[in-house]
Amino acid sequence: MIQVEDLSKFYGSVQAVSGLSFEVKKGEVLGFLGPNGAGKTTTMKMLTCYLPPSSGRATIFGFDIMKDSMEVRKRTGYLPEKSPLYTDMRVGEYLAFVARLRGVPGDRISSSVEMSVEACGLGSVFVKSIGHLSKGFQQRVGIAQAIIHDPELLILDEPTIGLDPKQIIDIRRLITNLGKDRTVILSSHILPEVNQVCGRVIILDKGRLVAVDTPDNLREKLRKFRVTFVTAASSGGNVGTQDILGGIGGVTGVRETAREKDASTFRIESAPDRDLRNEIAVRLVSAGVPLFELRSEEMSLEDIFIQLVTEEKN
Ligand SMILES: Nc1ncnc2c1ncn2[C@@H]1O[C@H](COP(=O)(O)OP(=O)(O)O)[C@@H](O)[C@H]1O
Ligand SMILES: [Mg+2]
Repeated sequence: MIQVEDLSKFYGSVQAVSGLSFEVKKGEVLGFLGPNGAGKTTTMKMLTCYLPPSSGRATIFGFDIMKDSMEVRKRTGYLPEKSPLYTDMRVGEYLAFVARLRGVPGDRISSSVEMSVEACGLGSVFVKSIGHLSKGFQQRVGIAQAIIHDPELLILDEPTIGLDPKQIIDIRRLITNLGKDRTVILSSHILPEVNQVCGRVIILDKGRLVAVDTPDNLREKLRKFRVTFVTAASSGGNVGTQDILGGIGGVTGVRETAREKDASTFRIESAPDRDLRNEIAVRLVSAGVPLFELRSEEMSLEDIFIQLVTEEKN
Protein backbone atom coordinates (compact mmCIF):
# COMPACT_ATOMS: atom_id res chain seq x y z
CA MET A 1 0.00 0.00 0.00
CA ILE A 2 2.92 2.30 0.75
CA GLN A 3 5.99 1.76 -1.35
CA VAL A 4 9.19 3.66 -0.72
CA GLU A 5 12.08 3.23 -3.13
CA ASP A 6 15.54 4.60 -2.63
CA LEU A 7 14.31 7.79 -1.04
CA SER A 8 16.97 10.38 -0.15
CA LYS A 9 16.96 13.91 1.18
CA PHE A 10 19.73 16.45 1.37
CA TYR A 11 19.51 19.73 3.28
CA GLY A 12 22.25 21.59 1.46
CA SER A 13 25.20 19.27 1.89
CA VAL A 14 23.71 17.41 4.86
CA GLN A 15 22.23 14.07 3.87
CA ALA A 16 19.32 13.52 6.26
CA VAL A 17 17.90 10.41 4.54
CA SER A 18 19.95 7.98 2.43
CA GLY A 19 18.45 5.50 0.00
CA LEU A 20 15.52 4.43 2.13
CA SER A 21 13.35 1.59 0.76
CA PHE A 22 10.51 -0.17 2.51
CA GLU A 23 6.86 -1.17 2.21
CA VAL A 24 3.91 -0.76 4.49
CA LYS A 25 0.85 -2.98 4.24
CA LYS A 26 -2.70 -1.88 4.76
CA GLY A 27 -3.68 -1.95 8.42
CA GLU A 28 -0.13 -2.12 9.73
CA VAL A 29 1.14 -0.08 12.66
CA LEU A 30 4.73 0.62 11.73
CA GLY A 31 7.29 2.28 13.98
CA PHE A 32 10.28 4.38 12.97
CA LEU A 33 12.80 3.96 15.71
CA GLY A 34 16.02 5.87 15.85
CA PRO A 35 18.08 8.34 17.85
CA ASN A 36 17.72 12.09 17.32
CA GLY A 37 18.92 13.10 13.88
CA ALA A 38 18.22 9.64 12.40
CA GLY A 39 15.94 11.10 9.72
CA LYS A 40 12.55 10.11 11.11
CA THR A 41 10.94 13.53 10.84
CA THR A 42 12.42 14.17 7.40
CA THR A 43 11.04 10.85 6.11
CA MET A 44 7.60 11.63 7.49
CA LYS A 45 7.61 15.09 5.94
CA MET A 46 8.38 13.55 2.56
CA LEU A 47 5.63 10.93 2.90
CA THR A 48 3.11 13.64 3.81
CA CYS A 49 4.23 15.81 0.87
CA TYR A 50 5.51 18.64 3.08
CA LEU A 51 9.01 18.24 1.74
CA PRO A 52 10.09 17.03 -1.71
CA PRO A 53 12.66 14.22 -1.76
CA SER A 54 16.07 14.90 -3.35
CA SER A 55 15.85 11.56 -5.14
CA GLY A 56 13.96 8.29 -5.10
CA ARG A 57 10.22 7.84 -5.05
CA ALA A 58 7.31 6.86 -2.88
CA THR A 59 3.73 5.95 -3.61
CA ILE A 60 0.89 5.93 -1.11
CA PHE A 61 -2.23 3.99 -2.16
CA GLY A 62 -0.67 4.02 -5.61
CA PHE A 63 -0.38 7.83 -5.68
CA ASP A 64 3.03 9.33 -6.20
CA ILE A 65 4.06 11.78 -3.44
CA MET A 66 5.50 14.16 -6.04
CA LYS A 67 2.98 13.93 -8.88
CA ASP A 68 -0.26 13.26 -6.99
CA SER A 69 0.33 15.14 -3.76
CA MET A 70 -3.32 16.27 -3.51
CA GLU A 71 -4.50 12.67 -3.61
CA VAL A 72 -1.90 11.65 -1.03
CA ARG A 73 -2.87 14.49 1.32
CA LYS A 74 -6.55 13.61 1.10
CA ARG A 75 -5.84 10.13 2.38
CA THR A 76 -3.18 10.97 4.94
CA GLY A 77 -3.42 12.49 8.42
CA TYR A 78 -0.30 13.97 9.95
CA LEU A 79 0.68 14.91 13.46
CA PRO A 80 3.90 16.91 13.11
CA GLU A 81 6.60 16.86 15.76
CA LYS A 82 5.42 20.22 17.05
CA SER A 83 1.66 20.14 16.74
CA PRO A 84 0.28 23.21 15.03
CA LEU A 85 -2.34 24.16 17.59
CA TYR A 86 -4.00 27.54 17.85
CA THR A 87 -3.94 27.93 21.58
CA ASP A 88 -6.66 30.63 21.83
CA MET A 89 -9.17 28.60 19.87
CA ARG A 90 -11.62 26.29 21.56
CA VAL A 91 -11.27 22.59 20.80
CA GLY A 92 -14.50 22.27 18.81
CA GLU A 93 -13.89 25.50 16.91
CA TYR A 94 -10.35 24.49 16.01
CA LEU A 95 -11.38 21.07 14.74
CA ALA A 96 -14.14 22.59 12.59
CA PHE A 97 -11.57 25.04 11.25
CA VAL A 98 -9.15 22.24 10.35
CA ALA A 99 -11.98 20.25 8.76
CA ARG A 100 -12.70 23.21 6.46
CA LEU A 101 -8.99 23.55 5.64
CA ARG A 102 -8.86 19.87 4.84
CA GLY A 103 -11.71 20.26 2.37
CA VAL A 104 -14.39 18.41 4.33
CA PRO A 105 -17.71 19.47 2.68
CA GLY A 106 -19.78 21.97 4.69
CA ASP A 107 -22.59 19.54 5.49
CA ARG A 108 -20.16 16.97 6.87
CA ILE A 109 -18.07 19.25 9.09
CA SER A 110 -20.03 18.77 12.29
CA SER A 111 -20.15 14.99 11.90
CA SER A 112 -16.39 14.93 11.18
CA VAL A 113 -15.72 16.96 14.31
CA GLU A 114 -17.98 14.64 16.28
CA MET A 115 -16.19 11.57 14.97
CA SER A 116 -12.72 12.81 15.87
CA VAL A 117 -13.84 14.17 19.27
CA GLU A 118 -15.34 10.79 20.04
CA ALA A 119 -12.31 8.84 18.79
CA CYS A 120 -9.87 10.97 20.78
CA GLY A 121 -11.93 11.28 23.98
CA LEU A 122 -12.27 15.06 23.78
CA GLY A 123 -15.96 15.37 24.71
CA SER A 124 -15.25 16.83 28.15
CA VAL A 125 -13.03 19.65 26.80
CA PHE A 126 -14.98 20.49 23.65
CA VAL A 127 -15.61 24.14 24.63
CA LYS A 128 -12.30 24.74 26.40
CA SER A 129 -9.49 26.85 24.97
CA ILE A 130 -6.68 24.66 23.68
CA GLY A 131 -4.13 26.74 25.61
CA HIS A 132 -5.81 25.78 28.88
CA LEU A 133 -5.55 22.03 28.30
CA SER A 134 -2.92 19.70 29.74
CA LYS A 135 -0.18 18.55 27.36
CA GLY A 136 -1.82 15.15 27.16
CA PHE A 137 -5.12 16.66 26.02
CA GLN A 138 -3.34 19.01 23.63
CA GLN A 139 -1.70 15.99 22.06
CA ARG A 140 -5.13 14.38 21.68
CA VAL A 141 -6.32 17.52 19.91
CA GLY A 142 -3.26 17.17 17.65
CA ILE A 143 -4.29 13.62 16.83
CA ALA A 144 -7.94 14.65 16.40
CA GLN A 145 -6.94 17.24 13.78
CA ALA A 146 -4.92 14.54 11.98
CA ILE A 147 -7.96 12.24 11.65
CA ILE A 148 -10.56 14.94 10.96
CA HIS A 149 -10.91 13.98 7.28
CA ASP A 150 -10.99 10.27 8.19
CA PRO A 151 -7.71 9.38 6.45
CA GLU A 152 -6.71 5.79 5.80
CA LEU A 153 -3.11 6.53 6.74
CA LEU A 154 -2.05 8.26 9.90
CA ILE A 155 1.51 9.54 10.34
CA LEU A 156 2.41 10.55 13.88
CA ASP A 157 5.78 12.12 14.65
CA GLU A 158 6.86 11.37 18.24
CA PRO A 159 3.27 11.37 19.51
CA THR A 160 4.17 10.85 23.17
CA ILE A 161 7.13 13.20 23.49
CA GLY A 162 6.91 15.54 26.48
CA LEU A 163 4.00 13.74 28.12
CA ASP A 164 3.90 12.34 31.65
CA PRO A 165 3.67 8.56 32.18
CA LYS A 166 -0.11 8.51 32.63
CA GLN A 167 -0.65 10.62 29.50
CA ILE A 168 1.75 8.36 27.59
CA ILE A 169 -0.35 5.33 28.45
CA ASP A 170 -3.52 7.15 27.33
CA ILE A 171 -2.00 8.24 24.02
CA ARG A 172 -0.60 4.77 23.32
CA ARG A 173 -4.03 3.30 23.93
CA LEU A 174 -5.56 5.87 21.62
CA ILE A 175 -3.04 5.03 18.88
CA THR A 176 -3.68 1.32 19.28
CA ASN A 177 -7.42 1.96 18.87
CA LEU A 178 -6.93 4.20 15.85
CA GLY A 179 -4.65 1.53 14.37
CA LYS A 180 -7.49 -1.00 14.37
CA ASP A 181 -9.01 0.38 11.21
CA ARG A 182 -6.22 2.54 9.80
CA THR A 183 -2.64 2.20 8.72
CA VAL A 184 -0.35 4.03 11.13
CA ILE A 185 3.28 5.09 10.93
CA LEU A 186 4.67 6.56 14.12
CA SER A 187 8.14 7.61 15.13
CA SER A 188 9.78 7.31 18.48
CA HIS A 189 13.19 7.29 20.02
CA ILE A 190 11.76 5.36 22.96
CA LEU A 191 12.16 1.64 22.62
CA PRO A 192 9.39 0.22 24.81
CA GLU A 193 6.99 2.41 22.91
CA VAL A 194 7.45 0.81 19.51
CA ASN A 195 7.64 -2.54 21.20
CA GLN A 196 4.17 -2.10 22.66
CA VAL A 197 2.37 -0.28 19.91
CA CYS A 198 3.92 -1.40 16.61
CA GLY A 199 3.58 -4.63 14.69
CA ARG A 200 6.74 -3.88 12.75
CA VAL A 201 9.69 -1.63 13.35
CA ILE A 202 12.12 0.14 11.05
CA ILE A 203 15.32 1.10 12.80
CA LEU A 204 16.93 4.20 11.33
CA ASP A 205 20.34 5.58 12.09
CA LYS A 206 22.00 8.51 10.32
CA GLY A 207 19.41 8.47 7.57
CA ARG A 208 19.83 4.77 6.79
CA LEU A 209 17.62 1.80 7.35
CA VAL A 210 19.49 -0.46 9.76
CA ALA A 211 16.86 -3.15 10.28
CA VAL A 212 13.20 -3.86 9.66
CA ASP A 213 11.14 -6.58 11.30
CA THR A 214 8.63 -7.34 14.05
CA PRO A 215 9.91 -6.54 17.54
CA ASP A 216 9.90 -10.29 18.32
CA ASN A 217 11.84 -11.27 15.20
CA LEU A 218 14.37 -8.52 15.74
CA ARG A 219 15.00 -9.89 19.17
CA GLU A 220 15.23 -13.46 17.90
CA LYS A 221 17.44 -12.77 14.90
CA LEU A 222 19.89 -10.55 16.62
CA ARG A 223 20.32 -12.53 19.73
CA LYS A 224 23.95 -13.62 19.72
CA PHE A 225 23.58 -15.84 22.76
CA ARG A 226 21.00 -16.86 25.28
CA VAL A 227 21.28 -15.92 28.91
CA THR A 228 19.82 -18.07 31.68
CA PHE A 229 19.93 -17.26 35.36
CA VAL A 230 20.03 -20.06 37.92
CA THR A 231 19.81 -19.75 41.66
CA ALA A 232 20.86 -22.95 43.39
CA ALA A 233 22.83 -24.23 46.36
CA SER A 234 26.53 -23.50 45.90
CA SER A 235 27.50 -27.14 45.72
CA GLY A 236 26.11 -30.67 45.54
CA GLY A 237 28.25 -32.75 47.83
CA ASN A 238 31.79 -32.39 46.58
CA VAL A 239 31.04 -30.96 43.14
CA GLY A 240 30.78 -27.19 42.77
CA THR A 241 27.54 -25.99 41.15
CA GLN A 242 29.50 -23.78 38.79
CA ASP A 243 31.40 -26.83 37.49
CA ILE A 244 28.20 -28.76 36.95
CA LEU A 245 26.72 -25.89 34.94
CA GLY A 246 29.92 -25.38 32.96
CA GLY A 247 29.91 -29.05 31.97
CA ILE A 248 26.51 -28.91 30.26
CA GLY A 249 26.78 -29.18 26.46
CA GLY A 250 26.10 -25.86 24.71
CA VAL A 251 27.07 -23.72 27.69
CA THR A 252 29.72 -21.20 26.70
CA GLY A 253 30.17 -19.37 29.97
CA VAL A 254 29.13 -19.40 33.62
CA ARG A 255 29.63 -16.57 36.08
CA GLU A 256 28.49 -16.26 39.67
CA THR A 257 26.55 -12.99 39.98
CA ALA A 258 25.31 -13.12 43.57
CA ARG A 259 25.83 -15.18 46.68
CA GLU A 260 23.65 -15.58 49.73
CA LYS A 261 24.14 -17.80 52.76
CA ASP A 262 23.02 -21.07 51.16
CA ALA A 263 22.65 -20.22 47.51
CA SER A 264 24.37 -18.60 44.57
CA THR A 265 23.01 -17.07 41.41
CA PHE A 266 24.80 -17.90 38.17
CA ARG A 267 24.55 -16.24 34.79
CA ILE A 268 24.85 -18.82 32.04
CA GLU A 269 25.55 -18.00 28.42
CA SER A 270 24.73 -20.51 25.72
CA ALA A 271 24.08 -20.78 22.00
CA PRO A 272 20.99 -18.77 20.97
CA ASP A 273 19.04 -21.61 19.39
CA ARG A 274 18.69 -23.94 22.38
CA ASP A 275 16.79 -23.47 25.60
CA LEU A 276 18.85 -25.26 28.24
CA ARG A 277 16.51 -24.74 31.17
CA ASN A 278 15.27 -28.30 31.34
CA GLU A 279 18.73 -29.78 31.09
CA ILE A 280 20.07 -27.43 33.74
CA ALA A 281 17.30 -28.50 36.11
CA VAL A 282 17.86 -32.21 35.45
CA ARG A 283 21.63 -31.97 35.96
CA LEU A 284 21.40 -30.01 39.18
CA VAL A 285 18.68 -32.14 40.71
CA SER A 286 20.42 -35.38 39.81
CA ALA A 287 23.62 -34.06 41.39
CA GLY A 288 21.60 -33.38 44.55
CA VAL A 289 21.87 -29.59 44.24
CA PRO A 290 18.76 -27.81 45.55
CA LEU A 291 17.45 -25.55 42.79
CA PHE A 292 15.65 -22.37 43.83
CA GLU A 293 15.10 -20.43 40.62
CA LEU A 294 15.65 -20.81 36.90
CA ARG A 295 14.83 -18.15 34.32
CA SER A 296 15.65 -17.22 30.77
CA GLU A 297 16.51 -13.58 30.09
CA GLU A 298 14.95 -11.80 27.14
CA MET A 299 17.16 -9.44 25.24
CA SER A 300 15.46 -6.05 25.31
CA LEU A 301 14.81 -4.09 22.18
CA GLU A 302 17.13 -1.57 23.73
CA ASP A 303 20.05 -4.03 23.69
CA ILE A 304 19.30 -4.86 20.07
CA PHE A 305 19.07 -1.24 19.11
CA ILE A 306 22.40 -0.41 20.69
CA GLN A 307 23.94 -3.48 19.07
CA LEU A 308 22.63 -2.50 15.63
CA VAL A 309 23.63 1.10 15.83
CA THR A 310 27.09 0.14 17.04
CA GLU A 311 27.53 -2.50 14.34
CA GLU A 312 26.57 0.06 11.73
CA LYS A 313 29.41 2.29 12.91
CA ASN A 314 32.05 -0.43 12.61
N1 LIG B 1 15.60 22.09 7.95
C1 LIG B 1 16.79 21.49 8.08
N2 LIG B 1 17.92 22.03 7.60
C2 LIG B 1 19.11 21.41 7.71
N3 LIG B 1 19.31 20.22 8.30
C3 LIG B 1 18.23 19.61 8.82
C4 LIG B 1 16.91 20.20 8.74
N4 LIG B 1 16.04 19.36 9.34
C5 LIG B 1 16.76 18.31 9.77
N5 LIG B 1 18.07 18.44 9.46
C6 LIG B 1 19.13 17.46 9.72
O1 LIG B 1 18.75 16.24 9.11
C7 LIG B 1 19.05 15.14 9.94
C8 LIG B 1 17.79 14.33 10.24
O2 LIG B 1 16.91 15.11 11.02
P1 LIG B 1 15.45 14.65 11.42
O3 LIG B 1 14.75 14.14 10.20
O4 LIG B 1 14.80 15.76 12.15
O5 LIG B 1 15.75 13.41 12.37
P2 LIG B 1 14.88 12.79 13.58
O6 LIG B 1 13.46 13.20 13.39
O7 LIG B 1 15.12 11.33 13.46
O8 LIG B 1 15.46 13.36 14.85
C9 LIG B 1 19.74 15.71 11.16
O9 LIG B 1 21.12 15.64 10.96
C10 LIG B 1 19.26 17.15 11.18
O10 LIG B 1 20.21 17.97 11.81
MG1 LIG C 1 12.19 14.10 14.66
